[in-house]
Amino acid sequence: MKKVYLETYGCQMNVSDSERVATALGRDGFEMTADAASADVVLINTCSVREKAEQKLYTQVGRIRHSERPKPIIGVLGCVAQLEGETLLNKIPGVDFVVGTRAVGRVGGILNRAFDGESDIVDLGEREDEYDWTVADTHRHSPYVAFLPIIEGCNKFCTYCIVPFSRGREKSLAASEIIRQILELKRRGVKEIHLIGQNVNSYRPESETGLEGFEGKSAFSRLLRAVAATGIDRIKFTTSFPRDFNEDIVEAIETHPNLCNWVHLPVQSGSDRVLKLMKRGHTIDRYRKQIDRLRASSRDIALTTDIIVGFPGETEADFMDTVDLVKHCGFDSAYIFKYSPRPGTPAYEMEDTVSFAEKTLRFLELEKVQKACQEKRLRRYDGKVLEVLAEGASARTPRGITGHSPCHKVVNFVADSSLLGSIVNVKVTEVKANSMFGEVV
Ligand code: 5AD
Ligand code: SF4
Repeated sequence: MKKVYLETYGCQMNVSDSERVATALGRDGFEMTADAASADVVLINTCSVREKAEQKLYTQVGRIRHSERPKPIIGVLGCVAQLEGETLLNKIPGVDFVVGTRAVGRVGGILNRAFDGESDIVDLGEREDEYDWTVADTHRHSPYVAFLPIIEGCNKFCTYCIVPFSRGREKSLAASEIIRQILELKRRGVKEIHLIGQNVNSYRPESETGLEGFEGKSAFSRLLRAVAATGIDRIKFTTSFPRDFNEDIVEAIETHPNLCNWVHLPVQSGSDRVLKLMKRGHTIDRYRKQIDRLRASSRDIALTTDIIVGFPGETEADFMDTVDLVKHCGFDSAYIFKYSPRPGTPAYEMEDTVSFAEKTLRFLELEKVQKACQEKRLRRYDGKVLEVLAEGASARTPRGITGHSPCHKVVNFVADSSLLGSIVNVKVTEVKANSMFGEVV
């Protein structure tokens, strides 16, 4: 049996694609291995959202080529593969094939061709069967948590973003299929489903089969109610796009306890002027109202966001608007990024006016402000009891178990491994910067 090592960078969509690739390869007679050094094949599922992520591919292929052993077959998958295609074969010596974001289902066949001696294979084609997305339990990142892509691609074309180019146009999975898959996952012991998509709440299926009888002002809020009705223990969804985030989504969360109290709503900047340059299609006033509504909810909803600092033309005053917004919103956590120009995007043509040193200063300043807000938010949990899904062994503590709360906080506690896969009441005894510690009650 040929052994395949698969490395994944980037977002949950890539993690999910990799789970499907591993499942399909298992079916095609390959064996997945966690040890790169002994693998006959090395696959790298790439991300191109920022230059740093893309750089990882070059470093990793170089490392493999220079290790002292026969060169494995090397395949590049995912976003960089989709964007660069054939040019990667010349750009990175040692790469044998390139497979785009929607062609990942065909990796097995391509591998067989590569073992037959064919080289320089490129497949940037479309998916063959949009429903053949099943994942074997053994290839899931957790036996109890499943990522379920309900929409892929992006139609928004924010000026900084490569995703519309790497992932193509938005395509939604039929609701009846989503429900069928969730019921099957539930039957197999999965406790938590993450509905995923670059803009999950822009979900718009071709037909509403499966959503009949469910209320809601958008297909997404109707889907949330339909998914809640499956009775699965927990449903999380990410990432939400502010322009399509209506109050009805909050109402659905308020009505259904199994819709988890966590919303990831990237704001990107606190300045209307910069948001316009980014073509985000939302204003700060509207965003603040959405946050205020979420804060006023009867559920204690955790809020997280993404922010880019140093976008072309961002002045000190614009940046201070972002600082003010972060202080106002009090996010549970925020992913802060330095703007990275991506060839092919509209912003790439704009003058990158903020120096790297200045971007770093703004990053550090915003991180400091966010950390202070975050600490305050997290301290509220001290002494509270959270329902934690016992997902796996915690590396740091003997007999330690780690898992997530419905508000998507990492909680570690000491307990017997027989509790794995169940939802446990844990009283928080210690709050750290990015996780909590507690004891079973
Ligand atoms: N530079 C920096 N950050 C970016 N993101 C997307 N494109 C870029 C870019 N060119 C960030 C956004 C997005 C997150 C996934 O990555 O904040 O929400
Ligand atoms: Fe990276 Fe975006 Fe591709 Fe995800 S979709 S892997 S974030 S470039």
